[in-house]
Amino acid sequence: MIKRIAVLTSGGDAPGMNAAIRAVTRSAIEQGWTVLGVREGYLGLVTNQFRELDARSVGGIIQLGGTMLGSARCKEFREESGRKQALHNLSKNGVDALIVIGGNGSQTGAYALSQMGFPVNGVASTIDNDLVGSDITIGVDTALNIALEAIDRLKTTASSHRRAFLVEVMGRDCGYLALMSGIAGGAEAVVIPEFETTPEQVAQTISAAYARGKSHALVVVAEGAKHDADALFRYLNENYKDELGFEVRATTLGHVQRGGAPLAYDRLLASRLGYGAVEALARGEYGVLCGMKGGQVTTTPLAEVAGKTKSLDERLLKLAQVLAR
Ligand code: F6P
Repeated sequence: MIKRIAVLTSGGDAPGMNAAIRAVTRSAIEQGWTVLGVREGYLGLVTNQFRELDARSVGGIIQLGGTMLGSARCKEFREESGRKQALHNLSKNGVDALIVIGGNGSQTGAYALSQMGFPVNGVASTIDNDLVGSDITIGVDTALNIALEAIDRLKTTASSHRRAFLVEVMGRDCGYLALMSGIAGGAEAVVIPEFETTPEQVAQTISAAYARGKSHALVVVAEGAKHDADALFRYLNENYKDELGFEVRATTLGHVQRGGAPLAYDRLLASRLGYGAVEALARGEYGVLCGMKGGQVTTTPLAEVAGKTKSLDERLLKLAQVLAR
């Protein structure tokens, strides 16, 4: 029977993680359990950094970006010795179950721990939206809106100067953020890892946009694409200087996309998934990821989530291309 749980945030932070910590803590208190927050993800498990969280200590954080618990990518936890140390510290602190808020690597770690017999549930959180077991993850909507705001701003200066912009967005090996911000931002082209686009094709798209009388061209490039924004910029300058119609500039958005306050969608998603992960523990369901599928809070066995990445809907790329005329 559960009396005490621990919660941690791991991997890249995502807007909405604080709302998830709050939801986990208060839902667990509702069950009559005590809650420990673990500092800096799996590193805090390995190095024994636990502190008690009560309803008040998670007050005033729902609107804050980042994570109050801190996050890290922990090498030690990838080794069995690190995981054994983590289990030792969990038992030393009287913890009966753990909730891991994070993305792909973090849920793979959660699975490894649950395979060692410890009750663990995950909460789907990453701006990359590459996690199997959730249509959308905590942080995606806010990151998308940040990328979109940058795209909208770049379009106005691009139009004033008749320029083409290559805008690089995050997403690791997944093109979701690039594709969706490209569609929503009305980009002329989207370059993503899932479907190869050659630099020549990018050059053709830009000069075709110029020939059609457009005042600018905007190309959204995923950081994980075979040719990133820098590589494309160098290629276009070396091979197509003065031939594209537009002058070319490149902008990389980087970590700006992960910072700042979570928007309403992410606060709500985090609240629902944090609550859902605790409810699952309460009904004795362990070793699952709590995510959102078809508009419903669902659980998926971590075995089906660990080490996998979600594929992208090819039809969305077609949509981006058709609407870019
Ligand atoms: O997984 C989230 C993410 O922001 C990716 O989009 C990006 O590739 C990576 O993390 C960056 O990692 P770090 O913050 O360690 O530089």
